Amino acid sequence: MSANNSSKNRFEFGENWRSFVSKVGDEQINLAVSKLQELIPNFSFANKSALDIGCGSGIHSLAFLKLGCRHVESFDYDPICVQTTQTLLSLYSKDFHGDFHVRRFDVLAENKGEKFDVVYSWGVLHHTGNLDLALRKSAEYVDKDGLLVFALYRKTVFCRFWKIEKYLYCHSPKSIKLLAQSMYIGAFIVRHKLFSISKYKRFLAQYHEQRGMDFYTDVKDWLGGYPYESISPMEVSELMHDIGFEEVFSVTENSLGLFGSGCDEYVYKRIDS
Ligand SMILES: C[S@@+](CC[C@H](N)C(=O)[O-])C[C@H]1O[C@@H](n2cnc3c(N)ncnc32)[C@H](O)[C@@H]1O
Repeated sequence: MSANNSSKNRFEFGENWRSFVSKVGDEQINLAVSKLQELIPNFSFANKSALDIGCGSGIHSLAFLKLGCRHVESFDYDPICVQTTQTLLSLYSKDFHGDFHVRRFDVLAENKGEKFDVVYSWGVLHHTGNLDLALRKSAEYVDKDGLLVFALYRKTVFCRFWKIEKYLYCHSPKSIKLLAQSMYIGAFIVRHKLFSISKYKRFLAQYHEQRGMDFYTDVKDWLGGYPYESISPMEVSELMHDIGFEEVFSVTENSLGLFGSGCDEYVYKRIDS
């Protein structure tokens, strides 16, 4: 595995995903399944192979298996994410027929010729330290006529600020991290005018419906997610056409983040051979 960044300069996603999984039940899993179907509506999952790059908690690998994929390969740079995904998939293995394999791997490392019908990487490639290379490497795993499904942070005028904030967060003691989380949640409440308990509760429920995710897990992930890069839809389009892909679908303005920060979602199809 290539060590693209020392562990001191990376956010440790693993602990966050491990604590998220303790809150995961059928409801969250069903939401992750629905979101995947919504993102790739005309795709028949049955008997397909899927790769989940940067699997995190493993909930989306599980969604692929529940949708009937024959094989799901999952990898993550963080060993705790690997362990968490393995545990989650094993726990729900009675709910699907396909097989799975989870391993520790860096998306920037060499692909030894593996190919999949669908490659999924949600909110990962901008945390590798080399977004351009990570996107090209992910594309290498896509088989002929296969799909690359990914989400990336949108480029905004605030990106420089967030990059510094994330670096400082990763190098701060726990007390400062807790303070930063409270300040972010406070700013979020003001920005989205969630001033009553009922409005806030409704927001949390709505947030949860997005992909079965949890607001508090995502706050830590957002504040700490370093390395951090971002990209505009135009830059994605140019890069993807350059490497022989055409756009099937994209959602580029649909975020609940602060100051326009959030992920754009893309589905691209390999059209070269
Ligand atoms: C924001 S989380 C997203 C997790 C999951 N894809 C999801 O949507 O819930 C980013 C994940 O990417 C992983 N990651 C970061 N750099 C990576 C790399 N170079 N290779 C593989 N995984 C990486 C992190 O460990 C983390 O689990």
